[in-house]
Amino acid sequence: MKTQVLRTISEVKSHLQGKSLGFVPTMGALHEGHLQLVRQAKYENKYVCVSIFVNPTQFNDPKDLEKYPRTFEKDLGLLQSAGCDYIFYPEYKDMYPDQYRFKVIENEFSKILCGASRPGHFDGVLTVVMKLLNIVSPDKAYFGEKDYQQLLLIKDMTEAFFMNCQIVACPTVRETDGLAMSSRNVRLSAEQRVLAPEFYKILSTSKSDDEARKRLLTAGLKVDYVETHWNRRLGAIFLGDVRLIDNVKVAT
Ligand code: PAJ
Repeated sequence: MKTQVLRTISEVKSHLQGKSLGFVPTMGALHEGHLQLVRQAKYENKYVCVSIFVNPTQFNDPKDLEKYPRTFEKDLGLLQSAGCDYIFYPEYKDMYPDQYRFKVIENEFSKILCGASRPGHFDGVLTVVMKLLNIVSPDKAYFGEKDYQQLLLIKDMTEAFFMNCQIVACPTVRETDGLAMSSRNVRLSAEQRVLAPEFYKILSTSKSDDEARKRLLTAGLKVDYVETHWNRRLGAIFLGDVRLIDNVKVAT
């Protein structure tokens, strides 16, 4: 089947209502990490819908929003070959008819780690995900473990609001040198790209958060945070103005 692009909420309702559906929300600039989510969704559901929406409310830094890569034509080709049936590609005015007057706020896990350095980020994420799940009404929605804090918050939100959607966690897809795939990796210079895999290497081989922080600094990587929660060592670093996140399982 040719992938169909749905631009409006009423198109989504008329094409998707009543279908057995897996859903993969994204902000586009797709890579193999996103495509694995799509393949898993296709394997577990009759139809798959992927949304592409660069959600302004989750960007606390306007420059980051402006620089976020937008590659719709390429994304369309990739989704077509991954077996995606529908793309929901909405505009801001349709997603935020209320101009962000209403938002979903979580008061614990959203305030630490990425939430501490990006105020309001998870309010934007949770709000847009709630809107997308309400519009698309999937049976299952797929999220990557790469954004572990996001995944936990979304899972907890669907439980807190009795939403009828199962949240499926998918493992982090990495480059062969260990760097977690991310839409932001294309913004790394050749030199920064060589340094970037040290992040994963150090996170996974350090015996403590403190050791990881020290080794990252020595390697020339600016540390935002390294902390252990939920049996995971989670980290965020800066390479120039590019912020990268990753996390690894730690033995208890
Ligand atoms: P985005 O960064 O485009 O990611 C979309 C989905 O792909 C997320 O669930 C993310 O965890 C997953 N993903 C990204 N890189 C991955 C990798 N290397 N391996 C496995 N999964 C990966 O996350 C967002 O968009 C937004 O916050 C969104 C949830 C769409 C709300 O706007």
